[in-house]
Amino acid sequence: MTRAEFVVVANRLPVDHIVNADGTDGWRPSPGGLVTALEPVMRSTHGAWVGWPGQADVELEPFDFDGTRLVPVTLTAEDVELYYEGFSNDTIWPLYHDVIAAPRYRRVWWDAYVRVNERFAAAAADATAEGGTVWVQDYQLQLVPKLLREARPDLTIGYFHHIPFPAYGLYSQLPWRRQVLEGLLGADVIGFQRVADAGNFARAVRRQLRYETKATGIRVPEADGSFRTALAKAFPISIDTASYVELAERADIQARAAEIRESLGNPKKILLGVDRLDYTKGIRHRMKAFGELIEDGRISVEDVTLVQVASPSRERVQAYIELRDEIELTVTRVNGDNDTLGHSAIRYLHQGFPREEMVALYLAADVMLVTALRDGMNLVAKEYVASRVDNRGALVLSEFAGAADELGTSLRVNPHDIGALKDTILRAIDMPPAEQGRRMRAMRKKVIENDVAAWSRSFLTALAAAKENS
Ligand code: G6P
Repeated sequence: MTRAEFVVVANRLPVDHIVNADGTDGWRPSPGGLVTALEPVMRSTHGAWVGWPGQADVELEPFDFDGTRLVPVTLTAEDVELYYEGFSNDTIWPLYHDVIAAPRYRRVWWDAYVRVNERFAAAAADATAEGGTVWVQDYQLQLVPKLLREARPDLTIGYFHHIPFPAYGLYSQLPWRRQVLEGLLGADVIGFQRVADAGNFARAVRRQLRYETKATGIRVPEADGSFRTALAKAFPISIDTASYVELAERADIQARAAEIRESLGNPKKILLGVDRLDYTKGIRHRMKAFGELIEDGRISVEDVTLVQVASPSRERVQAYIELRDEIELTVTRVNGDNDTLGHSAIRYLHQGFPREEMVALYLAADVMLVTALRDGMNLVAKEYVASRVDNRGALVLSEFAGAADELGTSLRVNPHDIGALKDTILRAIDMPPAEQGRRMRAMRKKVIENDVAAWSRSFLTALAAAKENS
């Protein structure tokens, strides 16, 4: 097998498996922004991507797709249960999102996490050329940097953490807290979404490992008694802004936005929530605030509709099963208490939609509600801003989402404070067009300047520099 100079390692491959109507099957690019961001680097370096094809027990040889070599890593049904649903999404995910749901610490899950991380590291080591660069993605693979460094000291290794890194007081609950920190420190650069995340990581390293940190540098001891410097720093991720702008400018998509408004009964105002169905997203808080505004008589169902798109996610994990029940009960209650025969308070869609339809929805929505209780970045907030080529619309944005650092002219809110959330939603509904324009223009500037290509460039530049200096 020819080895690649540049290799991405992520839990998922950047493609989805599809079965055609005639029974044949194939692959199509999955909609994530990371794929788009890395496409130019992948093409110019003939890069490879190591990841799981998304289904259990699928054994596939590496194959080429759109100029990228895809290297599938097999997960058995047991790996999916213990490594993916268990340790990744029932231990790390809730712990790193400030224990909104209770993390479960199970030793068999940890053992599977180690085993599967070893498998990804071995696949990456095989796929990368002498002196090449590997970029590891996200919390499912925190042990890969160290494993890879041990196997291939010649490589340059980057790691990007897409979710929050928690405060030390919470992080220290993790029974394997030292191993995880050591795993991450195998990288030359460890990227985080927010400055605060990088700070939390550095503090955990100081407290647990007693390593010295200085600004963004961490002094990591090597086996031979020498030291190297790892960089732990914020690189806020973004979206492929131009592709959203292009869609939002299309006449058929603008027509679809008008059609959506029509089909909702042309309410005066449409509020929109778009999330994976996840307990970190604050969907219940949003619905509670909205329901109370109706009950208080401050808005009426004739005038205002909330559209909530909640795409199915991690459906076999208990906390997600419970969340779905709670959300669906809330929707039914709010609607049952408030609907008229002609108007619904909440239109709830437990579905995912193609990007074209999402942009039409963004254009149809007067107010976008992002009320996450904790979120690494929240790209939906950036997608909404990118799509508003008309400089209209208002964004209500949780201060607990990473996007709040950059989108300073959004209406920032603490979603736990239901009173403040209600007032802020009302303020967004009533916002005069001139104020919408002023705020939206400032946010658009940020999202246009810092798109996902700029993000990957700045990370990879820092990575190349760090390797030279270490
Ligand atoms: C978050 C994580 C990603 C993950 C995505 C979807 O954005 O940071 O690593 O891929 O959620 O979750 P899933 O479990 O379906 O991959």
